[in-house]
Amino acid sequence: MTHELQSILARHHDDPTRLLQVLREVQEALSWISPESIDYVADQLNLPRARVEGVAGFYSFLHTNAACRYRLLFSDNITDRMLGNQALLAALCEKLWVERGHLSEDGLVSIDTTSCTGLCDQGPALLVNGWAIPRLDAARLDQIAELILAQTPVAQWPGELFAVEDNIRRADILLGHELQPGDALRAALSRGGAIEAAANARSWREGIPTAEQGALTTLEEIKKSNLRGRGGAGFTTGLKWEACRNARGPLRYVVCNADEGEPGTFKDRVLLTAQADLVFEGMTVCAYAIGASAGKTKGFLYLRGEYRHLLDPLNEVLARRRAANLLGKGILGQAGFDFDIEIHLGAGAYVCGEESALIESLEGKRGIPRNRPPYPVTHGYLQRPTTVNNVETFCAAALVSAQGGDWYRSIGTTKSAGTKVLSVSGDCARPGIYEYPFGVTVRQVLEDCGAANTLAVQISGPSGVCIAVDEFDRRIAFEDLATAGAFMVFDASRDMFEVARNFAHFFAHESCGFCTPCRVGTAMLRTTMDKIAEGHGTLYDLAEIEKLDRVLNQSAHCGLGHTACNPTLDTLKRFRPSYERRLKSQDFEPAFDLDGALAAARRMTGRDDAGAHLSTEDA
Ligand SMILES: Cc1cc2nc3c(=O)[nH]c(=O)nc-3n(C[C@H](O)[C@H](O)[C@H](O)COP(=O)(O)O)c2cc1C
Ligand code: SF4
Repeated sequence: MTHELQSILARHHDDPTRLLQVLREVQEALSWISPESIDYVADQLNLPRARVEGVAGFYSFLHTNAACRYRLLFSDNITDRMLGNQALLAALCEKLWVERGHLSEDGLVSIDTTSCTGLCDQGPALLVNGWAIPRLDAARLDQIAELILAQTPVAQWPGELFAVEDNIRRADILLGHELQPGDALRAALSRGGAIEAAANARSWREGIPTAEQGALTTLEEIKKSNLRGRGGAGFTTGLKWEACRNARGPLRYVVCNADEGEPGTFKDRVLLTAQADLVFEGMTVCAYAIGASAGKTKGFLYLRGEYRHLLDPLNEVLARRRAANLLGKGILGQAGFDFDIEIHLGAGAYVCGEESALIESLEGKRGIPRNRPPYPVTHGYLQRPTTVNNVETFCAAALVSAQGGDWYRSIGTTKSAGTKVLSVSGDCARPGIYEYPFGVTVRQVLEDCGAANTLAVQISGPSGVCIAVDEFDRRIAFEDLATAGAFMVFDASRDMFEVARNFAHFFAHESCGFCTPCRVGTAMLRTTMDKIAEGHGTLYDLAEIEKLDRVLNQSAHCGLGHTACNPTLDTLKRFRPSYERRLKSQDFEPAFDLDGALAAARRMTGRDDAGAHLSTEDA
């Protein structure tokens, strides 16, 4: 074991900021993270053991309990459920003689569920030792069971089991662009005349070297384009880049947020597969604009653990770009323009999509959101200026650099420039990726994807909004329905209470537990939804959900807590009968029958007089 651990640590230069990557590799080598390996890693990295153990315990894809040869995790988004994942999971447990959530006695296999794996367009899906297998059906399940029983190493399983499709159904300026690798960068550099001119030449702007002029003009184009972040919050990209550029310090970081954990969202998976060059090009343009020519800049792409299958292809693209001088030292011959990108793999924690939690995770810590301010643009990775943007934002930024801010701004609506890539899944004939100029109506998307008899659409995942039939003329745009990209369709056969219950379980599972309102509140929400599902709920419980929402909104530490009640409240407002028909009583009864709970005490004391009962007011 020591030899294996030594070489893992050597590969990571005994660098404590790489702790998460080290632990992932330890697990790959040993099939778990044993107590001895924790001791060893802590010792070698000169970290307290509790720190290493804390990180190993935080991420749901890291296992410290026991060695296990095949760990199977069924994706459990509502769309997987609609496609029958529960029956498939039960069937596989039976075939392999294992109880869900437990390790088989021989330590061979464990089967459980995980949050959405970003394969909703080709579900149901599962992960085996972190590798995605989409389009599960009875035949594939038989094949998987046979491979496990024959103890075939996962690396030798047939490749077609792991084939993930892109399912691009509608392309626009982004998915249909004709740029060659380097075009957007060349455009940025040539703005300062930097490609033709000697590196130390002076520009028409007195005192500003050409490289600086190119960076400033590119930044101006990004600002002019009115590009807004595609990760959910919609912050203006140009302002973010400018703030990072203006922050003090010789070192800056560019971070691409490819954590994509919002259930129902898978557009970044496809962008990273079909447009990897554009993503890296956008990051490099960003590095240039925020000051790579003036100081040192480094890039990270934080890839969600569920997209492990993309790691090697993405590293190949990086290698190709280095060879083409699109990364590395003196990019495209521009002296001093040094920038490279490293990929970090997450390990199953939705909260790490929140930018400050992502930065903590990049630093090799538990992914707990930071207090803000200060913001990452001034105090990000290692407390240095850091620009964090979504995968799609970087793609759009590369387009802006190549074709100009005015061109980009002319597409979409006045307040929402450009296009939006949607991940369409659920009840429709053609699930997949659809790119539209901002302003497209929900009705148009439903028509294009072949949805019929639609009851509701969940826009932007559980933390977004649920809309009903009378709202289908609303538009995808920051000024109306802002979205990070998820578009989940539910037809009239679906029960919207069950949809919301699935999302309540998601939030409770993904709460990082750092702050009490969210840790307790999301668990209470889940319990209340389960209680209603079991037929024990009353109107009191529905009112409690509204109270919980207020508490979470006011006091949760990050966006996860703030939005946890959204799907419940939205469906309660629009589909109230699906809640009410489950209620035990339509009265406003408290959740807990205190007087009933005192019955045992009355029996023991032999009292049953009025004084031994709580009056309604007392209760
Ligand atoms: C709980 C939570 C999860 C998030 N997940 C993601 C994600 O997976 N991808 C993403 O780009 N942004 C995510 N965000 C938003 C990021 O914090 C951040 O706003 C975004 O990466 C900024 O990039 P943009 O300006 O390009 O949108 C998440 C936010 C929260 C609160
Ligand atoms: S709101 Fe939830 S996810 Fe966010 S910090 Fe608090 S416990 Fe963690």
